[in-house]
Amino acid sequence: MGDDMGGGPVRAWLRGLAVFEGPLPEFLPEHAPADPVRLFLSWLSDAVADGLRDPHAMVLSTVDETGDPDARVLILKGVDASGWQFAGHAFSPKGHQLAVHPRAALTFYWPEHGRQVRLRGPVAPGSARENGTDFLARPASARAEALLARQSQYLADTAERDQALEKSLALVEREPTLVDSAWTRYTLAPVEVEFWQAVESRVHTRLRYERVDGGWERHRLWS
Ligand SMILES: Cc1cc2nc3c(=O)[nH]c(=O)nc-3n(C[C@H](O)[C@H](O)[C@H](O)COP(=O)(O)O)c2cc1C
Repeated sequence: MGDDMGGGPVRAWLRGLAVFEGPLPEFLPEHAPADPVRLFLSWLSDAVADGLRDPHAMVLSTVDETGDPDARVLILKGVDASGWQFAGHAFSPKGHQLAVHPRAALTFYWPEHGRQVRLRGPVAPGSARENGTDFLARPASARAEALLARQSQYLADTAERDQALEKSLALVEREPTLVDSAWTRYTLAPVEVEFWQAVESRVHTRLRYERVDGGWERHRLWS
């Protein structure tokens, strides 16, 4: 699979890989509920019930101060009428990006079900209480790491890191209610939520909810 092969074999190899292998669930948009939260929770519940790995993992896409996109996988922390929640450090790249440009997209994909959900909208940080509750629910080692506020910085010396982590962990164990004030639970309040269901025929089923006047309009989309 070397570069000298001009990429042809790689393309053929990729073309030969399966995608949307059935059996796939049926999605009937005409029976979709008026509220996308309900449909999302039903698709997530299906993923959990069928034992799909990391069913609550999603891609968070942001843009930096120059308008360049960035994306990474995060864990979904909650969903309710206010929106979809995730948590991270305000001093991380994603935290800086959201501070400068508080809008984002979330993408879920459950391959075994051939289902994708896409959301876009403004993002707001939680209250100090919400952020603190999320922080304290994290394992001690994760809290210790967050307190160092070094996420995504260059790691030059693993021994120095291990020493810093050990010190931070000792602090967390001494003060179990200690909260990192930069830990943030963000809420994305979607203006669009799209449900995408793969179909073996490749004529996939798409339904987009669009926010209007405090309610939701539903639109079918071409696949
Ligand atoms: C399955 C999975 C779940 C993750 N969950 C989180 C999370 O909830 N919060 C977080 O800050 N990073 C999480 N990460 C790490 C992020 O993908 C990312 O590496 C980190 O947040 C740094 O991103 P940034 O440099 O864009 O800020 C997770 C990674 C994976 C693969």
